Amino acid sequence: MKKFSIAVLPGDGIGPEIVGEAAKVLKTAGEKFGAEFVLNEALVGGASIDANGVPLTDKVLDLALKSDAVLLGAVGGPRWEGLDYSIRPERALLALRKELGLFANLRPARIYRELIDASTLKPEVIDGVDLMVVRELTGGLYFGTPKGVETLPDGTERGVNTMVYTTPEIERIAKVGFEVARKRRKRLLSVDKANVLETTELWRKVVIKVGKDYQDVELSHMYVDNCAMQLVRNPKQFDVIVTENTFGDILSDEASMLTGSIGMLPSASIGSTKNRAMYEPIHGSAPDIAGKGIANPIATILSVAMMLKYSFEMEEASNLIENAVESVLSKGFRTADISKPGMKTSSCAEMGAAVLAELK
Ligand code: IPM
Ligand code: MG
Repeated sequence: MKKFSIAVLPGDGIGPEIVGEAAKVLKTAGEKFGAEFVLNEALVGGASIDANGVPLTDKVLDLALKSDAVLLGAVGGPRWEGLDYSIRPERALLALRKELGLFANLRPARIYRELIDASTLKPEVIDGVDLMVVRELTGGLYFGTPKGVETLPDGTERGVNTMVYTTPEIERIAKVGFEVARKRRKRLLSVDKANVLETTELWRKVVIKVGKDYQDVELSHMYVDNCAMQLVRNPKQFDVIVTENTFGDILSDEASMLTGSIGMLPSASIGSTKNRAMYEPIHGSAPDIAGKGIANPIATILSVAMMLKYSFEMEEASNLIENAVESVLSKGFRTADISKPGMKTSSCAEMGAAVLAELK
């Protein structure tokens, strides 16, 4: 039997609730398909700050580096907001991405027919939406230097962040974009702000160059402001979107709402080292509903499906989880975020159990 070790990092807020449900799904999928998943749980984010004074200990980083994959819940919360940036919960996530070399973040947004009226957009606008944001994850505005806040001699404070990309960084993310597009509808949109930002002018140039090796994929370009507008105007036009770290952060949140709830979107963060990948829902720790048992575990469960597909080549198991999710939705199971008046609302645990039952 194949044996894989998974670092399970629930984090803060609703993290432990949703990861708890997703972990059961992972175990069950393993049992069904002849793989043993050994889950090693550890603290990250605010939970680690409270226990160890830092959001990510060397020990936990080491665990992540040695594991076959990482499953993460969410980090952060109002409790830790006053802390210095360098030790905020979010740093754990950024450090994991950086140290594991996870430069590509895949964020699929697809509509479930059953949830079409959970979206705030008109059904005819969103019916059939199926897109993937490929977000660069270890560069750009998030990591560029110089960065920080300084106090000038006259007492004025000055804050700086820098959007930086080198040619190799753009090349490798562009390749991921083209490869993903090749397996889908063969259309890649590169999103930049090349009319204003020099970094992204370079981005466009390099993407075009990489595209010469992918003649079968149709490449187009869009400015990020226009893309944000087009996503709500006519989202069906998109297949794969490849973009800078911050742009991808923003556009993927926007894309998630096409599907009805941010509680539905999984993600995979991958790099060039096999056995190094992290899977997490795109939503945050939702401190306002933490501990109430009402969070939607589907994004995390679908992240497990992505793990099986991308890290362990267990395509069949992955599809089975996706189908199980679809089927519980069609049976009428709804957590609060996707429910509507008159419908029975399930708790996080009930939704998890329903998916599990379907899987079995
Ligand atoms: C995300 C989140 C993170 C990010 C935060 C929690 C650091 O918003 O994964 O999209 O900004 O990347
Ligand atoms: Mg985000």
